[in-house]
Amino acid sequence: MRAYEMSSATGLESWSLAERPEPEPGRGQVLVRIHAASLNFRDILIANGLYPFSVNLDRLIPLSDGAGEIIAVGPGVRRFKGGERVAAIFSQSWLGGAQVSDAWNTALGGAIDGVLSEFQVFDEDGLVVLPDHLSFEEGAALPCAAVTAWNALYGAKPLKAGETVLTLGTGGVSIFAIQLAHAAGARVIATSSSDAKLEKARALGADAVINYRSQPDWETEVRRITGGAGVDHVVEVGGAGTLPRSIASTRAGGHIGLVGLLAQGEPLDPLAILGASCLVRGVMVGSREMFEDMNRVIGLHQIKPVIDRSFAFDEAKQALAHLAAGTHVGKIVVRVAA
Ligand SMILES: NC(=O)c1ccc[n+]([C@@H]2O[C@H](COP(=O)([O-])OP(=O)(O)OC[C@H]3O[C@@H](n4cnc5c(N)ncnc54)[C@H](OP(=O)(O)O)[C@@H]3O)[C@@H](O)[C@H]2O)c1
Repeated sequence: MRAYEMSSATGLESWSLAERPEPEPGRGQVLVRIHAASLNFRDILIANGLYPFSVNLDRLIPLSDGAGEIIAVGPGVRRFKGGERVAAIFSQSWLGGAQVSDAWNTALGGAIDGVLSEFQVFDEDGLVVLPDHLSFEEGAALPCAAVTAWNALYGAKPLKAGETVLTLGTGGVSIFAIQLAHAAGARVIATSSSDAKLEKARALGADAVINYRSQPDWETEVRRITGGAGVDHVVEVGGAGTLPRSIASTRAGGHIGLVGLLAQGEPLDPLAILGASCLVRGVMVGSREMFEDMNRVIGLHQIKPVIDRSFAFDEAKQALAHLAAGTHVGKIVVRVAA
């Protein structure tokens, strides 16, 4: 079978295409023919040697997010049968409840082999069934970005209808946050560097939009839009460079799901959190249980992941370069099966 692999993290050219033996499922495992995989900002960090969590560079198969079809099951498998359409969960050990201590050490495409491969074997516990209305490409968009958005909105302080959610930028996590918050009956305020991208955000359910380039002090606009109150939730993908403004955008008692590190900035003065009386919570993707909870909502509301562009398997490195260019809205996908 063909698989991409990386043995060094020296930049966006770190992936190479290789031939490997097709894996066989052992006891409790299933063999999946991967149909599609999707990319995350994390994959740029890993390729550039900047990922702050565990990475095993011994011929690592990249990418965490894949969807495919079960083509064989090992002895003792009870959850699945051949022919089922599935997606892999990001952290193979976090099945439900509170985050497990080794969640980062079982993350696909980082600590362990990922999905940019024609076939992959998974423990039967490490998969969920895809919502029926989604193609493999759409299903491959879900495991990291969508589950992270779900966890940010529901993992600690569950979003309620009528609340206000602030999203930053129009990448994979943020677009899912807009779609999920809109489906929940929340009011969504979306920011972006681009007016054209903001129009797409509006079409997906954003009620108000702010261009953070033309309005660098966007927190004042968030306050104005919310009548001075501030938002109930922020899905914070920027990190150091945006967190102070996100805190200033949040009402007392509001929740900031701290997800990402897209924007550089000065160290935060903790007094900002104290003064705002808000909850800032680090988010690590999410569990299988969260993925399944989210899939029910995605199915109920027939939510379609936004695919910016899909690339052929041979073009996977171009897909990574396209992600790094930052012109996308939503997700970038690689078609693994022809
Ligand atoms: N903690 C976790 O478990 C977890 C899970 C998933 C992702 N993440 C992190 O979350 C972040 C987003 O990931 P992703 O895969 O969604 O990324 P992505 O698809 O690459 O999103 C990039 C987009 O973010 C926006 N952006 C860039 N700089 C920004 C800034 N200074 N302020 C506001 N928006 C900015 C831009 O959109 P516009 O041009 O529209 O502004 C850009 O196109 C990354 O840091 C990633 O590592 C963390």
